[in-house]
Amino acid sequence: MELPFAESWKIKMIEPIRKSTREEREQWIKEANYNVFQLKAKQVYIDLITDSGTGSMSDRQWSAMMMGDESYAGAESFYHMKDAIERITGFKFVLPTHQGRAAENVLFSCLVKPGSICPGNSHFDTTKGHIESRGAVALDCTIDEAKDTQLEIPFKGNVDVKKLEDAIIKHHDKIPFIIMTCTNNTAGGQPVSMKNLRDVRELSKKYNLPVIIDSARFAENAYFIKTREEGYANKTIKEICLEMFSYADGMTMSSKKDAIVNMGGFFATNIEDWYDQAKVKGIVMEGYITYGGMNGRDMEALAVGLDENTEFDNLETRIKQVEYLGAKLDEYGIPYQRPAGGHAIFVDVSKILTNVPKEQFPAQTLTVELFLEAGIRGCEIGYMLADRDPVTRENRFGGLDLLRLAIPRRVYTNNHMDVIAVALKNVYDRRDTITKGLEIVWEADLMRHFTVKLKPAK
Ligand code: F0G
Repeated sequence: MELPFAESWKIKMIEPIRKSTREEREQWIKEANYNVFQLKAKQVYIDLITDSGTGSMSDRQWSAMMMGDESYAGAESFYHMKDAIERITGFKFVLPTHQGRAAENVLFSCLVKPGSICPGNSHFDTTKGHIESRGAVALDCTIDEAKDTQLEIPFKGNVDVKKLEDAIIKHHDKIPFIIMTCTNNTAGGQPVSMKNLRDVRELSKKYNLPVIIDSARFAENAYFIKTREEGYANKTIKEICLEMFSYADGMTMSSKKDAIVNMGGFFATNIEDWYDQAKVKGIVMEGYITYGGMNGRDMEALAVGLDENTEFDNLETRIKQVEYLGAKLDEYGIPYQRPAGGHAIFVDVSKILTNVPKEQFPAQTLTVELFLEAGIRGCEIGYMLADRDPVTRENRFGGLDLLRLAIPRRVYTNNHMDVIAVALKNVYDRRDTITKGLEIVWEADLMRHFTVKLKPAK
């Protein structure tokens, strides 16, 4: 008999988590204004709000932390991190930042001007925020298929090359770079194929434009290339990563995802002029160029994390767990963005809470219902997050309305996945009785989902 699949690690340290009663949760969510970001973490049983900075470090990472060199300038830990980044990505100029959005801030301060147009596949919200707040436009040229949650194709995160070329022809002089987010978080943690990266590279050469990869989950992307794209099955993840980055001029990185650290990020490139410009901004915004908001010990952990998480076994364990949760939802008939993403399952709420009007935020409503059901905290990636149009101030109801269940790396077991699936099934089974959603009591001008105050709709 063939042995079943199991994790490529064992557990050395545990952290207790606590269940609660429905009455407690009703009280807590009310106090949190029906916004799960405002819950206290200890009120949560299984926390799927994000896979960012929430992973478990390995024994190798923890031991590397003891070797942190906390020198202000030229710390040994910086060089360890820089060497790992260069070996895995091929980029030799490395500027640390405290997290991914800080790398965006530093780089975009140099490259994005009012009126700039930044095309690519779907931009993550902070990327979009750093572009829009500079009076520029983040132009999403993702393939249309990504919007059909039930369509199963291997590389649903791809950019539509025709859309991209049309945008380049129309706006050429206003385009500072093309940005490719791998995996495409907004489209459901969906990967970008090597062919797509190569096609984008060809366009970029034809029109003399640089390419940046938003690399938060580049290793998960490489896993999908290895397992889904012809010609890559026998390549190592590290070989695939090097090829991916060879089609770009620079990268921004949130190390809180695929480098499995709790905090950290960087910008890396082979364009010396970009590095020279960015390092000046980095010093002002983040810190000196060999630490940029990071501790020496965290740079050590990052170097080891990058190395470990560009190994097949580690990625396979992780992605199979997300697939396991997806298969459970299939069993219960719960619709989600197919196929399962690399870091999360994105539940398609527009196919579930059909009795809740969009003005009452169905995905936010389901997020609250799942918390009430079992203390599980997911995250709305829908109409609340889509926010208002900066000009008309109308709610943007054009996109998908999803509940994201992001799975932290190396944290939960498949027993937890079973609990999540059953909790969601219980809500799903009573979906027709849920007819009222939530109303906004107060909202901020920018990134409202983090701080919005809500109440049950009348
Ligand atoms: N790019 C992508 C694709 C991301 O998913 C994120 C963060 C960032 C950039 C910004 O990185 O958080 O280190 O500043 N995504 C998290 C999430 C927050 O929950 O998806 P950061």
